[in-house]
Amino acid sequence: MMAAACAVAIEAAKKDGIEIVFEKTPMGWNAFREFGDTLPAESLKRAVEIGTLFFGGVGDTEIDKTLGVKHPEMMPEARALLALRKEMGLLLNFRPVVYHKSLDHLCLVRPENIPSDGIVQVFVRMLLEDSYFGTSDLYDHIGCGVRDQLMIKLKKEVVGDEEAVVELAYYRRETLLKYMRAVFWYARERGLPVISIDKTNVMARYVLWRKMATEIGKAEFPDVPLSHLYVDAANALLGMPMKLAGVIMCGNEHGDILSDGAAGMLGSLGMMCSSAVNPETGSAMFESGAGTACDLKGKDKVNPIGRILTAAMMLRHIGAKVGAGAIEKAVEKTLLAGYRTADLARLVDNRDMILGTEAMGEAIMTNL
Ligand code: IPM
Ligand code: MG
Repeated sequence: MMAAACAVAIEAAKKDGIEIVFEKTPMGWNAFREFGDTLPAESLKRAVEIGTLFFGGVGDTEIDKTLGVKHPEMMPEARALLALRKEMGLLLNFRPVVYHKSLDHLCLVRPENIPSDGIVQVFVRMLLEDSYFGTSDLYDHIGCGVRDQLMIKLKKEVVGDEEAVVELAYYRRETLLKYMRAVFWYARERGLPVISIDKTNVMARYVLWRKMATEIGKAEFPDVPLSHLYVDAANALLGMPMKLAGVIMCGNEHGDILSDGAAGMLGSLGMMCSSAVNPETGSAMFESGAGTACDLKGKDKVNPIGRILTAAMMLRHIGAKVGAGAIEKAVEKTLLAGYRTADLARLVDNRDMILGTEAMGEAIMTNL
């Protein structure tokens, strides 16, 4: 996927007169075998210095079961991915889900639920704090007695036969303020409404969430339409995407789950594209956002489209707007011509139209 997407990115950026040079910063189990760490210090240092990352994905369920059991602190998704998000302060995670009428046969949504001008949903997940970082962020501030009593453990200390494990989740007012302002700003720029997702009926942190969303919306963005939905209700609406059209402002865990659901409705997790941005420094990481499809490893089968669309997001971020638009058009054209990867091939009669990873990359490159 990365080979296909890097080639497309380099070619497309030329349309803006930009030359992209990729430098490899090894992470994950391969890096562990070579350097003894799934996040080698040198890789982290370079990644943070460079500040614009095209992330290949880490994690392999098979290796997680062998090396991961021996070295739980090295589990790459938690160690490499979450550490990068935190080190780089990647607060905002954009996951656009775009329905085109002409491609409605690819998705799980009934065609009558997709209007002729399509649907744009932009999930903007808050990528820090919440349950993802709660325990590690707060652990040092809690007395040992309390930790023992509540069975609060750092992820690396959790072992397979635990009978109960307590995890902490939190949001800070200051971080929410930064995040929500950026989300409202983004929505205003695009003339889209904001749908704020929460769970105020049972979760205390979401009471703060809704209060702040309401306050910020009213005081600073009165022109941006704002509505609120419980996360479970939002989940029920994924099959009727018109009801979730706009910018979906959601917490770390909620956004993780909803965005996979939305990508699934669009046709396949392989279509998901994702960028994570620090709104203050402009550092950013671009990844497909669906973990790794390691069951397809080495089979030349996995869908590279999400990764290629992620390259388009990266190009837009570095100012290569023409190239970014060209990638999106090339993907659309390739799909409209009937080419599919196996995950999208539900309705394909002509097996010649089903392409492997490499061939799909080449087809998109040709249309570029
Ligand atoms: C995502 C992924 C990650 C997450 C995993 C791999 C840690 O699911 O980017 O959505 O949960 O954030
Ligand atoms: Mg996810």
